[in-house]
Amino acid sequence: MAIEIRGTGKAVPANRVSNGDLARKIDTSDEWIRSHTGIGARHFADEGTACSDLALEAAREALAMTGGWPGGDREGRDLAAGEAAKTLDLIVLATAGADFCGCPSTACVVQDGLGARQAAAMDITAGCTGFVYGLETAAGLLLAGKTRKRALVIGSELLSRLTNWEDRGTCVLFGDGAGAVVLEKTGAPVEGPGRRGLVGSILGADGAGAEHLMIRRGGTRNPFKAGETLGLPPHIEMNGQAVYNFAVKAFTDTCRRLMAEDGSGIDDIALIVPHQANARIVQAAGKRLGIPEEKFFLNIGEYANTSAASIPIALDELNRAGRLKRGDLVMTVAFGGGLTFGGNLIVW
Ligand code: UT7
Repeated sequence: MAIEIRGTGKAVPANRVSNGDLARKIDTSDEWIRSHTGIGARHFADEGTACSDLALEAAREALAMTGGWPGGDREGRDLAAGEAAKTLDLIVLATAGADFCGCPSTACVVQDGLGARQAAAMDITAGCTGFVYGLETAAGLLLAGKTRKRALVIGSELLSRLTNWEDRGTCVLFGDGAGAVVLEKTGAPVEGPGRRGLVGSILGADGAGAEHLMIRRGGTRNPFKAGETLGLPPHIEMNGQAVYNFAVKAFTDTCRRLMAEDGSGIDDIALIVPHQANARIVQAAGKRLGIPEEKFFLNIGEYANTSAASIPIALDELNRAGRLKRGDLVMTVAFGGGLTFGGNLIVW
């Protein structure tokens, strides 16, 4: 049995904020942001938008792409997506900024919004590695359940809500957005010629490094108390240098292990789709691995770091541009809060 990607979608808020726009409000410059990160712009959601709203938009796009399911696309995009949603058995949503703190999960809000009444729904907390974790989790659950056939995996983030605008070392890095894929269990082979779908994953964590990337406030460790003035808001705090060093090593090790476990070499891989945190991390890891820059897809220039949404947004861009051909071996690789790391190998 193979777990294949049948549809992709994304949602990117219309409000585009360039480095120059930021430099008019905080002590930074286009030159610093570009040279240190490769970021040129980011997109921010408006005040009325929550994580599930972006997730729903991306999910509907991905479901609409699957077309041929009950309802087809005769009646227009929304109906096609709605009919396809009824065939979902599972929704897995990765985020660092859920609609609600703890309960309900954002995946449940999305399940209701889609009318995916048959689907189980749950969130995944694995920082920027969330989509990589989500893909493997959903695939495992599809394979484990006899009657489960289709799943939706979403990465959705509103990092602008979690940003400390007083901290120029982090606030220039993040953007909002969501990406989604529809997975389907098929009878295709997962080994040998003609293999299809998710053929390998590596998931890892180093909880000892948690303090380097944290949102300290709002959970049961440091809860909000009635009537208090917020001394410590729910903001992202990051030790950039420590995360950078972790990221380059985790990225390099994950790529090596994925290829070794699969028995493939770099020439077998059509494209590497990395988490878009910093173009310098990708360049440093590429150098250590001896992988040419053209093998990596980067869109950080336009969207900045959208955490768990960055890989599915990139997959959708590539898919819609026709850059992923059937049979292409595609590698994802990510690292982030937790600290976590991981990657997937997908035969498109
Ligand atoms: O996706 C989750 C994982 N997160 C990451 O992967 C992030 C990993 N870390 C990084 O990408 C990099 O460490 C950063 C981009 C966050 C920072 O780059 P850096 O080269 O490590 O810069 P730095 O923090 O060492 O700062 C260098 C200088 C400092 O000035 P002094 O002390 O040398 O005078 C900072 O104050 O750059 C200054 N600086 C800025 N200047 C203009 C820091 N932020 C800014 C800014 N604009 N926005």
